[in-house]
Amino acid sequence: MTPRRITPGDARLLAVLHAGAFERPWDEAAFEALLVTFNVFGLMLDGQGFILCRAVADEAEVLTLAVAPLVRRNGVGRALVEAAAATAAVRGADSLFLEVASENAAALALYAAAAFEPAGLRRGYYVGGADAVVMRRTLNT
Ligand SMILES: CC(C)(COP(=O)(O)OP(=O)(O)OC[C@H]1O[C@@H](n2cnc3c(N)ncnc32)[C@H](O)[C@@H]1OP(=O)(O)O)[C@@H](O)C(=O)NCCC(=O)NCCS
Repeated sequence: MTPRRITPGDARLLAVLHAGAFERPWDEAAFEALLVTFNVFGLMLDGQGFILCRAVADEAEVLTLAVAPLVRRNGVGRALVEAAAATAAVRGADSLFLEVASENAAALALYAAAAFEPAGLRRGYYVGGADAVVMRRTLNT
């Protein structure tokens, strides 16, 4: 299960996968804009899922992660997170951060299994009022 690098031509595919995973999906234009941003990188398993990240100096962050409902619990999310962590480390990041809704049990379990640790809480961060848990994984260790 080896994810490939996302290219600017993938915006429509990402929008479709995102719409299958989130109540408030990002549209194709939003992905087009992100994919031409110099410090944004992403990885995908075609038809199954993708992860999009941004690298700033020695830190990287996960912007979004989506796995198609029909293929969940098959290791796709884990493979994408590991590929993103490896890519971020190659780009010089020491840490990989993310925000996850405190009520998102699946994602919290995935990130805990992937060596992320809680690093903060943003109360009422999401539309609808859910808190965001900030999580951090140390890279290059
Ligand atoms: C969260 C998400 C990306 C997980 O993707 P996935 O491909 O199903 O995850 P994996 O199969 O790689 O799971 C890896 C581990 O994470 C944990 N996990 C994943 N989904 C879980 C669930 N629903 N319940 C409990 N643990 C879960 C388990 O430890 C799992 O290992 P196991 O299957 O050997 O027990 C997927 O559910 C998704 O796209 N959700 C909607 C979008 C979303 O929430 N994105 C993250 C926003 S921060």
